[in-house]
Formats: sequence, C-alpha cells, structure tokens
Amino acid sequence: MNHEDPKPFAYGLFERLGRRTAVVGVIGLGYVGLPLAAACARGGFRTIGFDVDASKVEMLNGGRSYIDAVVSSDLAVLVGDGRFLAKGEFSYLAECDVVVICVPTPLTRHREPDLRYVTATAETIGILRLRGAHVDYHDPHVPVIPPTREHGQYEGVRSIEITAEALRGCHAVVVSTDHDAVDYGLVAEHSRLVIDTRNVFRRKGIESSAVVKS
Ligand SMILES: NC(=O)c1ccc[n+]([C@@H]2O[C@H](COP(=O)([O-])OP(=O)(O)OC[C@H]3O[C@@H](n4cnc5c(N)ncnc54)[C@H](O)[C@@H]3O)[C@@H](O)[C@H]2O)c1
Repeated sequence: MNHEDPKPFAYGLFERLGRRTAVVGVIGLGYVGLPLAAACARGGFRTIGFDVDASKVEMLNGGRSYIDAVVSSDLAVLVGDGRFLAKGEFSYLAECDVVVICVPTPLTRHREPDLRYVTATAETIGILRLRGAHVDYHDPHVPVIPPTREHGQYEGVRSIEITAEALRGCHAVVVSTDHDAVDYGLVAEHSRLVIDTRNVFRRKGIESSAVVKS
C-alpha cells in the first residue's frame, strides 16, 4: 500500500505492530485463516476474521472451533477477551491496519488455479482504496487479473515487477506465499515493513529488522 508521503503511516504502523495495538484482519477463516487469526489474537493483536459463511461466523463467535489446530476452549477465551471477533460484514475491514487474504484457490479441471475467490477479494482491495490506500500485487503465476463477471473493474490489472524502487514506495509488503521466482533478499533489503505470513525469510535464512512474522 502506498500513499503520497508514506513515512508517517509506515512508522505509525510499525509502532502499532510493536505495541500490539494494530488491528489484524484475516479474510477466509478456513484451515489457513482460522489458525492464523487465532495466533494473531493470542499474540496480543485485536483480530477480526471475515468469512462469507454465516454459520462459521456464528459458530466462531460462540467460541466453537471446527479445526483441530484451534482448540475451542482457547478460541472461547480469545472471543471472551474481545481479542477475536468473526464478521460477515466486510465494512469492518476499515478498522484493520493489516489484512491477510486466506480464501480458497482450488484447481480447475484444467489444473489451473481457480481465482474466483481471489477476485471476490478484490472487493476488499476496493475497501482499502476507499480508505485512501493504493494496493498493488505481484504474482509470477497470475500476471494479469482475468475477466470475471462479478469484478470486471479489476480485469487487466497487472502484477507489478518487484524492484528496489517499487518496494521503497510501499508502506507495507505482505508476503502471502513462497515463490521460488521471488528475490526475497531484495524484498528484505528495500522494504520498510514486511509482514511474512509464510515464514519465508526465516526458512531462507534472511535476517532483517523490517520483517515481522505473522
Ligand atoms: N490448507 C492447507 O494446508 C494450505 C496449505 C498451503 C496453502 N494453502 C492456501 O491457503 C489458501 C486458503 O486455503 P484453506 O485451506 O484455508 O481454504 P479453506 O477452504 O479451508 O478456507 C477458506 C475459507 O474462506 C472462506 N471464503 C471463501 N470465499 C470468501 C470470500 N470471498 N471472503 C471471505 N471468506 C471467503 C470460506 O468460507 C472458508 O471458510 C488457499 O490459497 C490455499 O491454496 C492452504
């Protein structure tokens, strides 16, 4: 995300992350998203989980988990403390400082990634843009967002190149997957803040004070 003068926002976000006063949003409360959201909440962040499945939202807010990696009694404590809250209304994204997208990307019968859910998440990007953020993406396997009936406005949006200049212009870089094609050394060297949702940097032995593991 970048703004005209990114410094105040970036430093503010750093501080909020350090003090655990930043609010984390996780979109998609499945096998990846729910444990991630619970880990953020346990780590002290107020965490809002978003899901289109209203029954999951209700169940999770009742402190009942449906995933082995998250124990219901632990979830109930996080809900009771107000550290975790599930929502179906995406307008609550406006409260979040950091958003991680964990929606499904199944393969089609032609064994190509089915990006239906990701393009639905494009709406989320629309909300971030409403808050004044500019959001770019980089994905070596999805160079251009394909046409969809629902989110035609994003058709043709292109994956940007990862360059030192592009990284320096961003407030925050969210790493949501581990691609061999990405030069993570360059990302660590030039980014102000990196939120690493995959533990990529540790695995690759790249140390940087800019990297925060989520
Ligand atoms: N499960 C794994 O072991 C695993 C491992 C590596 C990577 N991944 C990747 O992680 C991502 C998430 O996978 P998962 O296994 O957690 O999926 P999942 O199917 O378990 O959960 C996805 C959740 O997203 C919700 N959802 C769907 N569309 C949504 C939308 N538009 N907005 C909000 N919520 C929405 C669903 O209701 C569901 O609760 C995928 O890209 C997957 O390829 C998964």
